[in-house]
Amino acid sequence: MKVCIIGTGYVGLTTGTCLAYLGHEVTCIDSDSKKVAMLRAGQSPIYEPNLPELLAEASPNLRFTADYAEGVPKADVIFIAVGTPPSANGSPDLKYLYAAAQGIGEHFDSDYTVVVNKSTVPIGSGNWVGSIVRESYEQHHGRKADKLFSVASNPEFLREGTALHDSLFADRVVIGSDDQRSLEVLYSLYRPILDQTFTAPTYLPRPEGIGAVPLISTDLASAELIKYAANAFLALKISYINEIGQLAEKVGADITQVAKGIGLDARIGTRFLQAGIGWGGSCFGKDTAALIATAAEYGLSAPIVEAAREINRRQRERVVEKLLAELKILKGRTIGLLGLAFKPNTDDLREAPAIDIARKLIERGCKVKVHDPVAMEKFLADYPDLAVVRCETAEAVAEDADALVLVTEWHQYRELPWEELATRMRTPIILDGRNALDRVRLTRFGFRYIGIAG
Ligand code: UDX
Repeated sequence: MKVCIIGTGYVGLTTGTCLAYLGHEVTCIDSDSKKVAMLRAGQSPIYEPNLPELLAEASPNLRFTADYAEGVPKADVIFIAVGTPPSANGSPDLKYLYAAAQGIGEHFDSDYTVVVNKSTVPIGSGNWVGSIVRESYEQHHGRKADKLFSVASNPEFLREGTALHDSLFADRVVIGSDDQRSLEVLYSLYRPILDQTFTAPTYLPRPEGIGAVPLISTDLASAELIKYAANAFLALKISYINEIGQLAEKVGADITQVAKGIGLDARIGTRFLQAGIGWGGSCFGKDTAALIATAAEYGLSAPIVEAAREINRRQRERVVEKLLAELKILKGRTIGLLGLAFKPNTDDLREAPAIDIARKLIERGCKVKVHDPVAMEKFLADYPDLAVVRCETAEAVAEDADALVLVTEWHQYRELPWEELATRMRTPIILDGRNALDRVRLTRFGFRYIGIAG
């Protein structure tokens, strides 16, 4: 099938590359010509494991351009995967979505096209996109667009760091439209994933025991709500274990064991019960805020989702409180942060707890040293004014530090020469913000080990 993807961020680029790998003819459009040039040269503008390899393998079926006229006209399916960043009042800014819908209306020229909202958009946006495409088409072509296209929603559930795996070996595929024909087109598009008939890349082996991928084929509003409800549920699962973690700490329970003990109940599940500093990233904060805002538009409140946000906010404050309890005075102290990215295996700093924590510590008069194995360059570009000491290595962060905080549980931090690090520090205190380190081992090396819960 001929596929056009508008927007080459995490979602668009992953989706485009995977669909090209599956044999579809894909054109990715992005208004950022620098990004397009990089992609044409075979370079990935984002850090995502295995993406360069898959881009290379899919390259015969993959084109990149900044020009709508090169991808939109004869496409069977057009994905809108542009950013919907939060605006000043917290609601998603839809200007890129609007521009994409207008561009599609201006350029599409086939008997039938499915326009798919892949970006996370407010519930009801499918209808809105449809009306913009229609108006733009009629304005530019001078005739009615009615039977020539329909709008569908196809939310993504990929996690940064495992985006390709999550796309190729999805837990489920959700497609929503009020037009049966577009559901059939999308069913054909996703068939290789649904039936798992493609040859898996050698570096992304098919997980053992994976069978057919379930398809949820539904109406537009349900598909849109599924996305928000899923992300909010994951966010509140994390906040729940963090709330229980506070109690665990008081009663002397081990939160990791508690999480395992409850998670092995198949009704609960073990995943997303990792207690710690809490969630960051581009999705959970934005989507929980949007869900609350949408509920309010209908005169409803969403107290469970609100509580999940509040608990998450407090987790970051607890880092400062714990350091204060330990060091008594924060002014003049040197605190080292290990990890800046909002989670391992990405260089994404959006809503990253490290930024918040660094700011709070600086406000308290601390000197803050930071390190991240991958996100340093991005950090310098995004936060040039944040007054921290950027270090090349974790060892340099430890030098003369009064305490270290593990903010992002990068694999390499587990393997650090901790014994040596302890000797470099002024006081060997480690606050394990992800409960990811070996308490017994670190204590043996002379560390005062503090978990975030329990
Ligand atoms: C999320 C959703 O998982 C994905 O389905 C959606 O499409 C986009 O948003 P992402 O933000 O990439 O993906 O990362 P995710 O792995 O969900 O982690 C989000 C945050 O939660 C990270 O900061 C992570 O450190 C934190 N987290 C995750 C926990 O604190 N505990 C956990 O148990 C799991």
